[in-house]
Amino acid sequence: MTHPVASPTSRISGFHKWTPEARIECVAAFAGLGQAERDQLSAPSNIEAQLGDHMIENFVTTIAIPVGIATNVRVDGRDVLVPMATEESSVIAAVGNSARQCYDTGGFVTSMSGTQMIAQIQLLDIADPRRARLLILERRDEIERICNACDPTLVRFGGGFRDVEVRLIETPAGTMVVTHLIVDTRDAMGANAVNTMAERLAPDLARWTGGRALLRILSNLADRRVARARATWSCDAIGGEAVRDAMIAAWQFADNDPYRAATHNKGIMNGVSAVVLATGNDTRAVEAGAHAFAARTGRYRSLSTWEITAEGDLAGTLEMPMAVGLVGGAVKIHPTARALLSILRVETAEQLARIIAAVGLAQNFGAMKALATEGIQKGHMSLHAQNVAFAAGAVGEEVDAVVRALIESKSFSEEAASAALARLRSH
Ligand code: MEV
Repeated sequence: MTHPVASPTSRISGFHKWTPEARIECVAAFAGLGQAERDQLSAPSNIEAQLGDHMIENFVTTIAIPVGIATNVRVDGRDVLVPMATEESSVIAAVGNSARQCYDTGGFVTSMSGTQMIAQIQLLDIADPRRARLLILERRDEIERICNACDPTLVRFGGGFRDVEVRLIETPAGTMVVTHLIVDTRDAMGANAVNTMAERLAPDLARWTGGRALLRILSNLADRRVARARATWSCDAIGGEAVRDAMIAAWQFADNDPYRAATHNKGIMNGVSAVVLATGNDTRAVEAGAHAFAARTGRYRSLSTWEITAEGDLAGTLEMPMAVGLVGGAVKIHPTARALLSILRVETAEQLARIIAAVGLAQNFGAMKALATEGIQKGHMSLHAQNVAFAAGAVGEEVDAVVRALIESKSFSEEAASAALARLRSH
């Protein structure tokens, strides 16, 4: 079925039934993409060997991850179509369904604490760490000058050094003096910028304090770059009080038990990492930041919170570090990442981070609702059945027929799919 339309909203009914070509046309019209971007999206194996060889060492090939579009998402009053790269079925559908259920109550409202990253410089062998700490803090202006001289472009774009902090870390190997450089990296993820500053400054810190500088590296616990999203789902839209209360109980479980919290937060990352990857950003950096932030109270907890509003509706919030950029690294040079970023129509890294937080919250809502009601296997298994049907060699219309046979027989093994396919072909 082909329904290429220029949709003014992210609410596109039946999008999942269209062909990939029709979806690209619709998304391109929605986001005003040019022909080069459309062509890039239409090429499923879309980086040249030469570029791969440039991006990493010992390049041999690429592994393609499917990219889908989450519909129905509204963030801060603006409709967005969100590209998500994931190998896991149900993830994109969950975001679209969850976003649809809060679209009429305004969608997602987001904000951000800032775009500051932290670099750490570790100093060892200091006899008088408390004095050393003050020696460093006294040189704030000089530190600012040294750091900003490392990256005049960043300073020109309004970023650069913001502050210095010194922490004393007690370890079995003695007291370590750890300097934090706090740097506004604006639209860059910022790893290169802050690592360069840390490496440049370390010898000075060692000289001033009489210590020995060892590690000089950013912290992925980017707690000065926290993206926040909230949304309210009306009690009626989600199926009534029993569903709402079950979801609250599901969240309480996660927030109070690390075994459950790990899985709960993994679900959030299903949404978050898929957008981070699609936009060419560093999934591991965001993952590391998320889990460290979830444990910031000393106990590993849920990244989200869920409450019942005075009106009896369900309100969700998500806060997590979101170190993503629009310039530098793969974001800059991967042609598909660039085309996918264009779909989002964001102008700053902050806007991107805020959309990603909204997607994380939507994903969490979807997982919790499924788990607290019918369980996730029903939805999962029909999508899983499709994968099994493909693996067994089904093509075209055979796929749906094999999926139906697997669901009817409640058997989802590849053998069952092969047998169903053989039966189909023998008719
Ligand atoms: C599966 O990839 C993600 C879930 O396990 C998340 C959750 O349990 O909340 C469904």
